[in-house]
Amino acid sequence: MFSILVLHGPNLNLLGLREPGIYGSETLDNINRLLQQEAETLGVKISVLQSNHEGVLVDAIHSASSEQHQGIVINAGAYTHTSVAIRDAISGVNIPTVEVHLSNIYRREEFRHHSFIAPVAIGQISGFGSESYILGLKAIVNYLQKSGS
Ligand code: DQA
Repeated sequence: MFSILVLHGPNLNLLGLREPGIYGSETLDNINRLLQQEAETLGVKISVLQSNHEGVLVDAIHSASSEQHQGIVINAGAYTHTSVAIRDAISGVNIPTVEVHLSNIYRREEFRHHSFIAPVAIGQISGFGSESYILGLKAIVNYLQKSGS
């Protein structure tokens, strides 16, 4: 059974309260419940972590392999646009990674248009609200099944 690490970056713990016009009214707990349901449907295991700290996210990416995760789904939040460290961690561990965003980052401020993660991810899903995570989980599982990992 595949095991997928789902990482939520900074401020995503505030979902539901935070700019609902942009991010919707769903809480992170709710999104995690939807992800768990989808994981059961797909027949995979997920481990979920949210952190507001860049180094904690880097450490989680480093441990992904020893914790037997075959894939990563990450919404790095604002670190998407700033973090060479998270990008280097993803390229360093060589675990297939899908980048997700609730909002469409390309329809927003210019500083959100650049992602440090995109070049080291197998793909990016942006703009579908909580559904972005579900699509991201489906995408990584499909990728792993096809690559016969
Ligand atoms: C986000 C988009 C980022 O630009 C922002 O900093 C976030 C959330 C999204 O899911 O739409 O924190 O990653």
